[in-house]
Amino acid sequence: MSTGTPECGRPPEREKLKITTRRRFLTVLSIGMGTFAAGLIGIPILGFLAAPLVEKVPRFWRPVGPIEKFKVGATVEVTFVDASPLPWAGVAAKTAAWLRRNGEQEFIAFSVDCTHLGCPVRWLADAELFLCPCHGGVYYANGKVASGPPPKPLPRYPVRVRNGQVEVQTSPVPITTS
Ligand code: FES
Repeated sequence: MSTGTPECGRPPEREKLKITTRRRFLTVLSIGMGTFAAGLIGIPILGFLAAPLVEKVPRFWRPVGPIEKFKVGATVEVTFVDASPLPWAGVAAKTAAWLRRNGEQEFIAFSVDCTHLGCPVRWLADAELFLCPCHGGVYYANGKVASGPPPKPLPRYPVRVRNGQVEVQTSPVPITTS
């Protein structure tokens, strides 16, 4: 016969309900706090990772020498400071391009990076070709692929002449191709 008292070791229905409600509350509270903590840590990390995708990369015109320094028909290597040099970068802040003078005011600047896997290409003046030493990629003087694995022509940097100075526009990855 039931006496209204709980059976040995078993909480009454009201206690069970309280325990279940407390458990649910604690579960919801832990999930909420966990989500909040993950947000506190994750949002700055996501921001750090996504920033380069949305940030506008600054572009600067860098002088590479007076116009009379360059011979018409010649291709020479020029160096200039990168778009965003770090204060401690030293010479690593410098980058290079192959500059070709095609006319009195007409210049083309090619990226030195091969479009296959990025090895620096060399200019062979006698053959009038760019040669990539890594896998034998060859480019014509106008940057177009002559042979080998490169999939695309050498990218170009914008060039201009200002106040007698030849200037190359910096770019993390040159965007125009010949
Ligand atoms: S990196 Fe230039 S041919 Fe492979």
